[in-house]
Amino acid sequence: MFKTCTKVASGILRISPRVGSARLASANLPLSGLRSFTTSNTCFSDKLFVHRDTDKNNPDLPFEFTPENLKEAKETIAKYPEQYKKGAVIPLLHIGQRQLGFTSISVMNEVAKLLEMPPMRVYEVATFYTMFNRDPVGKYFLQVCTTTPCQLCGSTKIVDTIQDHLGIKVGETTKDNLFTLVEVECAGACVNAPVLAVNDDYYEDLTPESTKDILNQLKAGKVPIPGPMSGRKAAEPKTGLTSLKGAPSGPGFKVRADL
Ligand code: FES
Repeated sequence: MFKTCTKVASGILRISPRVGSARLASANLPLSGLRSFTTSNTCFSDKLFVHRDTDKNNPDLPFEFTPENLKEAKETIAKYPEQYKKGAVIPLLHIGQRQLGFTSISVMNEVAKLLEMPPMRVYEVATFYTMFNRDPVGKYFLQVCTTTPCQLCGSTKIVDTIQDHLGIKVGETTKDNLFTLVEVECAGACVNAPVLAVNDDYYEDLTPESTKDILNQLKAGKVPIPGPMSGRKAAEPKTGLTSLKGAPSGPGFKVRADL
């Protein structure tokens, strides 16, 4: 029997057993026959683009750059012509996120003040780039790549392992505020897939076992050595070198003697 699938606004596929009878499933239909279209939390535009005041993130909470970060911010601004200093908005938001741990609305307002920009222009940038976390995250920000090369190398198992080991789902933070887990698109290290970024460090060639080991070490306050967990060096072939195995040829190699 043929089946047709219809994607509906809720991010859910409705499987219809009759060809040509694909129809939109409304949110109030029973869940039988429905399956989740994505494995991660569905990000709707209200989550991505809308700010709602909370105790930890509202414009009344003061934010100022530390003297050190202010110096860095001013040095960054000085790289731009005076009339284009708003070009420094991304680096400044980045400095703010590093200082506070996330890009709160107060960080955005402070950046707008420094760059003499309308705050809305800064909000537009911060909401466009998903690397700016506009909600607090845990001490260890876990970003698992689940794009095709990583998925083919087992990233689904890595996500499951982290979820089971920490007792959280993608998009959630552990109760002790130690870990936040998110899925990301290609982390740019496909040759060492599957890949997990922990803050600024990449852990590669992961297996469920090595992933648990990394999490346990982090929980114990240690920082595991980043890089491939398979023992290979950087991105060299897993089966060992296949070329460039001899000593490098010296100058003049294969060059005509009369030159
Ligand atoms: S697909 Fe995962 S790092 Fe590129």
